[in-house]
Amino acid sequence: MKLVSSLLETSLPPPVHVGIIMDGNRRWAKGRGRPRIDGHLRGMEAVRKVVKGSIALGVEYLTLYAFSIENWKRPAAEIRSLMGLLRLYLRQEIKDLDQQGVQVLFIGHRTLLPDDIVSLIEEAEEQTKGNTNLNLVVALSYGARQEITAAAQSVARQVEAGELDVSEIDETVFMKHLETAGMPDPDLVIRTSGEQRISNFLLWQVAYAEFIFVDTLWPDFSDDDLREAINEYHRRERRYGAAG
Ligand code: FPP
Repeated sequence: MKLVSSLLETSLPPPVHVGIIMDGNRRWAKGRGRPRIDGHLRGMEAVRKVVKGSIALGVEYLTLYAFSIENWKRPAAEIRSLMGLLRLYLRQEIKDLDQQGVQVLFIGHRTLLPDDIVSLIEEAEEQTKGNTNLNLVVALSYGARQEITAAAQSVARQVEAGELDVSEIDETVFMKHLETAGMPDPDLVIRTSGEQRISNFLLWQVAYAEFIFVDTLWPDFSDDDLREAINEYHRRERRYGAAG
């Protein structure tokens, strides 16, 4: 287990897995009369801060919802600039993430992404493989319903092939067919920008997560806000459906 961070209010261990729905980039830009891309660019800076903060606080898994399946419905120009930004992030940041000891992983529908981005993703995963300071999981072109449907198909195929009996299907077996197989479930999910929705993010995995909604727009979110969210998480009592 990691050392308990002295940056927190209590000596309780930090959440092992934090998921973040990064929301409010466009509103941040609109509020300043600036183009949308500026909001996304500032959002990328917030990603840097939160990655550093997660390492300092002893978080082991950080999952960031960077682009949902539904985001493909956005105007073509915005998708182009978001993909451009992602290219930039993957080219510029991976070396730095690797040096910080971060293992980068991606979940989501790769077939929908441009080929060069898929190559960059694969390179990033390969380059950072085995790093242990933080697992940064980027949910890209991701949708939880699609993930669960694909898992159901995968289980059904095993049954069809005679490799699995229907009576053997339980939560543990099913989880192995999800894209997050082998990862712990999120303990804490943070959504920025005042919206209180889950938006098709890790629906299976968040069954017992604590949710914290903050009004801060994602580009303004910092490592201090992450620390405050973890302090709030520590003030809550998790019962997993059992009596207190
Ligand atoms: C939500 O704000 C944000 C996004 C759809 C994109 C998130 C992308 C980044 C923060 C940059 C890249 C990140 C990584 C990990 C490479 P919104 O556009 O929905 O804003 P709104 O809610 O104000 O409309």
